[in-house]
Amino acid sequence: MLNIALPKGRLGEKVYAMFARAGFPCPGILEENRKLVFENEEKGVRYFWVKPSDVAVYVERGAADVGVAGKDILLEHVPDVYELLDLKTGICRMAVAGPKDFRDDPRRKLRVATKFDRIAGEYYASLGRDIDIIHLNGSIELAPLLGLSDVIVDIVETGTTLRENGLAVIAEILPISARLITNKASYEFCRAEIEAIRAGILDQTEEKA
Ligand code: PRP
Repeated sequence: MLNIALPKGRLGEKVYAMFARAGFPCPGILEENRKLVFENEEKGVRYFWVKPSDVAVYVERGAADVGVAGKDILLEHVPDVYELLDLKTGICRMAVAGPKDFRDDPRRKLRVATKFDRIAGEYYASLGRDIDIIHLNGSIELAPLLGLSDVIVDIVETGTTLRENGLAVIAEILPISARLITNKASYEFCRAEIEAIRAGILDQTEEKA
C-alpha cells in the first residue's frame, strides 16, 4: 500500500482529482466528514489529509511515501525529499508587498513581517539589504497596516487580500506551484508504483501546457 499525503483544502481536492484521473481513485474521499484516511486496496493506495505545511514532514520521515507540497514550503523548510514533478496547479507567487506609497529608507533597517523567514532572509541578503524579520503565522497583511512592519513577504494568488487592505506588490521574489514529492527510501523500494503515479499525472500537466 502506497501512503499518499494530500494537503487539506481546495488545493488538495484539485490535486486528488489529478491522482484519480491518473488511475488511482478512492471512493468516498471527497465526501464531507471528518475522516482523515481513505484506502483503495485494489489500486494499492492509501490517502490521508494533512495540513499543507505538514505534508513534507510526513514524507521526509517516511510516514508518507509520496505527497504534494507547495514550492514555498520546500524552499522555506528544505526537507530532505525528492521533487518528482511540478503539478502546475496551486500557482501563485512569493512577493514583497507594502503600502502603495511605500519608499524604502536605506538608512534604516527594513522591518519585514512574514511566515517565510528563510525565503525573506535570503532574498534581502541577495540585495545586501539589512532587515529585521518579524515572524507571524497568518494574516500577514495586517502588519504594515498597524505599523508592526514596513513591508511583508507573502504569497500572492489573486491579489485580492492586498487590494482590499490598500497594499500592493513591490517586488516579485519567486513563482510558486504544487510539487509531487517522495523520500529516498520510498523511491528506492516502491519506484514502479511511484513512477506509475508520476506518469499518470505528468500526462495531465502536459495537456495543460
Ligand atoms: C494566503 C496568503 C495571503 C492570501 C493571498 O493566506 O498568506 O494572505 O492567501 O491570496 P490572494 O492574493 O488570492 O488574496 P491564507 O489564506 O493561506 O491565510 P493566512 O492569512 O493564514 O496566511
